[in-house]
Order: sequence, then C-alpha cells, then structure tokens
Amino acid sequence: MRIGVLKETREGETRVALVPDAVPKLLKLGVEVLVEPGAGVASGFLDAAYEAKGAQVSGDASSAEVVLGVQAPDPARLQAGQVVASTMNPLGEPAGVAALAERGVTGIALELVPRISRAQAMDVLSSMANVAGYKAVLMAATASPKLFPLMMTAAGTVRPAKVFILGAGVAGLQAIATARRLGAVVEAYDIRSDTKEQVESLGARFVEFDLGVGDQQDSGGYAKELSEEQKALQARLMAEVIQAADAVITTAQVPGRRAPRLITEEVVEGMKPGAVVVDMAADSGGNCAYSKPGEEVVVNGVTILGPSNLPASVGSTTSQLFAQNLVALLGLIVQEGALTIDLEDEILAGAVVCKDGTIVHPRVQEALGAQQETQS
Ligand code: NAI
Repeated sequence: MRIGVLKETREGETRVALVPDAVPKLLKLGVEVLVEPGAGVASGFLDAAYEAKGAQVSGDASSAEVVLGVQAPDPARLQAGQVVASTMNPLGEPAGVAALAERGVTGIALELVPRISRAQAMDVLSSMANVAGYKAVLMAATASPKLFPLMMTAAGTVRPAKVFILGAGVAGLQAIATARRLGAVVEAYDIRSDTKEQVESLGARFVEFDLGVGDQQDSGGYAKELSEEQKALQARLMAEVIQAADAVITTAQVPGRRAPRLITEEVVEGMKPGAVVVDMAADSGGNCAYSKPGEEVVVNGVTILGPSNLPASVGSTTSQLFAQNLVALLGLIVQEGALTIDLEDEILAGAVVCKDGTIVHPRVQEALGAQQETQS
C-alpha cells in the first residue's frame, strides 16, 4: 500500500503533512511513502531529506491509496476509492466535503478527531493552536511600542505591559504562558469557568464577569454559544479590561460557527493609543470588529492584527507536529500494510466525513443543509 504526501497549493501555506523524520515511522507500518517533488521545501524539508529517510519522491503521490495533506487537496486530483486525511474545515466549508464525496473518496477531517485522551496524539487542532498562541504573543510584542517586562534601570523603572488574553483554550493558555515568559502582567477570560484554575496556574489573573448563567461548556469540552443578552452584558463588562490593556490577544471560537464578536468598534476606539490587538479568530469572522484576515489595521493609534493561518508562519515546527499527529492516526487505520477503516471506532466515527460517495457525518450533513438553505 502507498501513502502519498501532497505539495500544498493554498496561497501562503508553508506546511507539509509529513516531515522526513516521520517517514521511517510510516515505513514500519508496512507501506511505501511517496512524496510530491518540492512538497516540504516551503517548510525547509528538501526532497533529498525525504529520500534519505526511505521515501520516494514521485509525481504520482496523489494516486496513492492514502493521500495526506495539510489542507484538503483539489478533488479533481483524486479518484474513487482513495482515502484523504487532511484538515478540511468540514463544518465551516461543508461544500468542500461534498466535492470530495462526489469524487467517491473517503475523507478523514482531522479537525473532527474527537478530543478524547486516546486521540490526543492525533489532535492537530491542539498542536496548531499551541504554536499559534505562542506566535500571536510574539506578534503583539513586536507591534507594541512598549516592552513587555518590568525593567529596573539606572534611567528609572519601566512598568510591565498589561496583556489581556480573551479565550483560554489551547491557544489562549499558550499565549498566557508566553506573555508571562516575556514578563507581562497577564489577565485572561473564558466563558468556560473551569479554565480559571488553568489560567491561575500559569501566573495570570482570571477576570470574572457575572453573566448570570451557569457553566458555558458543552459535554465535548467546547464553549456553547451565548444568548444576545448575555453577549451584550459580557461586552460591557469586558470593555473596561480591554481598554486598560497594552495588548489583547483574542482566541475565542465556537466550533462550526462564526467567531463571537467580542470587541466592538466603540471598545477599540476607547483603547489606549499604541495598544495592540491580535485577533487569532480573524479567519473565522473575527473577535474584533476592525480585524481583517491577513491585514494590519490602525484605528486611533490602536493596531489590530488579524493574522491568517498563523501555523503556516512557523512551518517547520508546525509541520513536525502535524506529521506526528498523522503518524498516530495512520497507526490506527493501517495494520501490517493494509488499510482498515472501522467506523465502530470512536475516533474514526468522529472524523470520517465521507465514504463511498456519501457524506456520512451528521454534523457535516447538517452544516451543508444549513448552507444550502441560506443560499436558496
Ligand atoms: P476553541 O479554539 O474552540 O476556542 C478557544 C476558546 O475560546 C475556548 O476556550 C472557548 O471556551 C473560548 N470562547 C468561546 N466563546 C467565548 C466567548 N464568548 N468569550 C470568551 N471565551 C470564549 O477551543 P480549543 O482551544 O480548541 O479547545 C477548547 C477546549 O477543549 C480545551 O481548552 C480543552 O478543555 C478541550 N480540549 C480537550 C482535549 C482532550 O481532551 N484531548 C484536547 C484539546 C482541547
């Protein structure tokens, strides 16, 4: 059986789904590994490095039984019976899954791997969010006209910057840890109250707003969407904290939905000149009213960054992590060189979105139905 690694085609994507060091781990599963020429170049992995680890560099990689990508490959390149494992934004862009289904391929959406302990090693959302949270703080520190740490110098004392992290999931927690390491005074907030302890254990203050509701966490550990009234109250209470900050990193997301708008125009306009907002949710609609994906916007001296595809800006590290996640997933579906996709397995039941020409995932079917309704 052959596993093919594709060269990414999306603009700005530097990652590659498999790095040379991961090749021997796949060979041990009894498969051949085919890598498209130049697939790893953008993240610093040359064809010769793949060959040195036992892979074949081949223009036929896209015809392998299992095809690996960071982003979903162009369905036109695929044939019925192939298995594709990649991220594919299945709830945000379900039409992409429908296109794969039409081709008759089996699609494994890495975003939908359930967040259970057995699947932790396969969790690309966590590995990418972790790196992105780190990078977002570096961007904020670079864009800020203030240094982050407390400095006691002969010329006087420099007070530490105040950083507010909005959303304390995987990216937010890494952002807290990074901002703390840079010496900032850090505050954080999340609607899931069980993040309080995690935030405090990283040396940040957890900001509490009483929204008059219980815990906002669903059974899968994700945030539930707030009502309009709750959103308005949250925004009012949060404005004060945001306007006191030198840098704000926003990471709030609700899976399958547009990111919650948490920082309005008025709040930005009341921020300190020189303050920086890094909106990590810019690609999914933005937490901040002014953010634009991939752009820098300056409003009244406040810089709003909406980095697009942050993991691609650290392509070497994120490709290594992505590859590890895929190796763990392939360990589940390849045994002694043969492919078995057992939909009774909780991980595959969660992540397989289409099979034999049909969309099999209920949440993707639902998302597609909703999208078709809006269009008609
Ligand atoms: P995410 O990227 O979907 O969201 C980021 C954060 O934004 C979340 O913490 C969410 O609660 C928060 N948020 C959403 N709406 C908000 C609002 N209106 N105001 C403030 N905050 C808001 O989440 P992520 O980081 O991918 O994961 C969320 C959680 O899932 C983790 O923190 C963890 O508890 C759980 N998880 C479990 C894993 C496992 O058991 N294997 C692995 C990874 C995550």
